[in-house]
Amino acid sequence: MALIHGGQLQLVAKQFNITPENWLDLSTGIAPLNYPIPEIPEESFKALPQSSNGLETAAKHYYDANSLLVTNGSQAIIKLLPTLWREQNPHSTTVYLPEQGYKEHALAWEMAGFTLCWYQDALPALTKISDHCVLVIINPNNPTGQLYCQSMLISYQEKLAKCSGLFVIDEAFIDVIKPSQSMTNTVNNYKNTLILRSFGKFFGLAGIRIGFLIAENNWCTKFKEHLGPWQVNGPAQFIAQKALADKHWQEQQQRKLKALSVSLRAILAENLPLEYITTISGTALFQSVYFKKGIDVESYSVALCQQGVYVRLTDDKQALRFGLAKDEQLERLANALAYVTNTTINELSDKCPSAIY
Ligand SMILES: Cc1ncc(COP(=O)(O)O)c(C=O)c1O
Repeated sequence: MALIHGGQLQLVAKQFNITPENWLDLSTGIAPLNYPIPEIPEESFKALPQSSNGLETAAKHYYDANSLLVTNGSQAIIKLLPTLWREQNPHSTTVYLPEQGYKEHALAWEMAGFTLCWYQDALPALTKISDHCVLVIINPNNPTGQLYCQSMLISYQEKLAKCSGLFVIDEAFIDVIKPSQSMTNTVNNYKNTLILRSFGKFFGLAGIRIGFLIAENNWCTKFKEHLGPWQVNGPAQFIAQKALADKHWQEQQQRKLKALSVSLRAILAENLPLEYITTISGTALFQSVYFKKGIDVESYSVALCQQGVYVRLTDDKQALRFGLAKDEQLERLANALAYVTNTTINELSDKCPSAIY
């Protein structure tokens, strides 16, 4: 089964008959400003990719981790993890997952035959964490932006360790959270805590496909064996090594993303039909707009597409997630939102009259 994600511009462009270059694509949470591609030595393209000490050292430093595995995106770990965990712990049957969140986690656990239990916002009570169970947290959550602080996570980590459970923390969007709430530096004391880090989002280079598992050495070795050789191509390794070590660029990126997310929020607040909206929440990499129950959010998103603005309709069709727009794209976004709000407002109110009052 294939899930629908943002970033399907070719498909959407065809559907709305607007050529891809004429779209404002805000359908992902990938930074719109990317780490500049350095000059890449020809050798990186020619030789089979080796595991690189330079990349590992830069990654350990950036992620504040003692042991990690480089993969071709954290998705590779998400997909394989349930099978490896089952092999290690055949008694494990239950996994707690966020009801809203990157759905590849749920798909992987479901396909491996686990029983899925959902939570949203509040984590399942500590008393519910029973022997051998798995807790998956996306921190901060995509698309809600919900962030759990380290001190709370530590109590779950301890409980899961005591009951031979597994703690999976997906930190794909945590790079922009300051002060950091990352749990990477705890993994050596907790052998069943696995942390996933995505390189593509903060560095704006999702296409090079690189990500990291941060976990105790045995887990890294096990994944390495199962994933096999040549996971990450040479040019991707070369770029990531430079980017992870470039503190100056990272600081600039933090400032720029923060400024762009503030502009995005302001434009959303000025141009969306606020009477139909409950919350706008997110991170410095995206903002999600939650509409009141009964509002036809899908129609609103179709109307935006007709203006050539592509955003992500959430799976429950209750919210729209907006990726960051660059400075020079903000005016187009504001105009499209104002137009769609003005032209659909009556339809939306017809569909849900009670929502206006
Ligand atoms: C929360 C979350 N985790 C993991 C991923 C996978 O990212 P990647 O495989 O590029 O590291 C995504 C992709 O959008 C995501 O949103």
